[in-house]
Amino acid sequence: MIQIQAFAHKDNHIKHFVLTNNNGICAKITNYGAILTSLTLPLESGEREIVLGFDSLKDYKNKSYLKDYPYFGAIIGRYANRINQGKVRIDGKTIQLPTNHGKHHLHGGYSGFDKRTWDAEIVGKSRLQLSLLSMDGDEDFPGNMKLTVIYELNDENELAIYYSATCDKTSPINLTSHTYFNFTGGEENILNHELQIDSDQILENNTELIPTGKYLDVKHTAFDFRAQKKINQDIKAVENYDNCFVLKTEGKTLKKVAEVYEEKSNISMEVSTDFPGLQLYTGMFINIEGHKKFGPFSGLALETQGYPDAPNQENFSHGFIHPGEVYQHQTRYKFHF
Ligand code: GAL
Repeated sequence: MIQIQAFAHKDNHIKHFVLTNNNGICAKITNYGAILTSLTLPLESGEREIVLGFDSLKDYKNKSYLKDYPYFGAIIGRYANRINQGKVRIDGKTIQLPTNHGKHHLHGGYSGFDKRTWDAEIVGKSRLQLSLLSMDGDEDFPGNMKLTVIYELNDENELAIYYSATCDKTSPINLTSHTYFNFTGGEENILNHELQIDSDQILENNTELIPTGKYLDVKHTAFDFRAQKKINQDIKAVENYDNCFVLKTEGKTLKKVAEVYEEKSNISMEVSTDFPGLQLYTGMFINIEGHKKFGPFSGLALETQGYPDAPNQENFSHGFIHPGEVYQHQTRYKFHF
């Protein structure tokens, strides 16, 4: 079932869509930024909020929130993650994208898809379709890009996100959902959550989190999540996880790639996707004035996506969309509680 609520005082086009399934899971999405604002599970002890978000538009537009902007729950594009110095070569020409993060391009620029008003349409019992036309030159990206993102909540306790896009010129593309999970309902940070990632390698980064093009084996490192372990088990070695894990989704097959478990709530989440990468970000830099529960490590982002800086890396595929192609991916989050 989908109900529609108001989300903004002044803008009638911005709404809150409330998706519920027959087991009492409730997902709230606004067409501003295509943001998943809330996801609650009906535990015996009551409703449990498991993602970071706000219940009104003004909080998403608040200056203190945008200062060290953590992109809570938003759909990120055109290019999620970093592009080295914002430069990309297309057909022998270099295009310059906004360098909104130090010297580099991050998450689509100053006004990415996370700050757009998407068109919303209810396309099934529990399917919400959000569409956006990103015009030629949008944040200096080439081509008119048509995007749809569908959120679907089913009775198997899965929240699915389907991404698709076309473009009339060659453009970099990398879409993701920037949802942060915390199964304790904000009572604790995420360091005691247990995590398993089916990945043997991460992408090596330089000190500015730009990939060097090399792959690093996770074996004998803090990045080894092949067997489930607490996030804090080895985090001291890295301070904060902010790395792209190489997934075994060759040939774009949908695969279970990760699982998160929190003991006290007994909640677990399986993540399945056909994207080639997963950016694990443990949220060390979350720090929102006036919101005590949104501090460092208050949320865990598992961003299924293509590889960072892929347009500039010979070893990486998936960085571009070409005219006539359809970019299509999906990610599914299945809950047990
Ligand atoms: C993540 C990124 C982090 C940080 C965060 C937003 O996707 O990997 O480095 O930029 O977004 O605060």
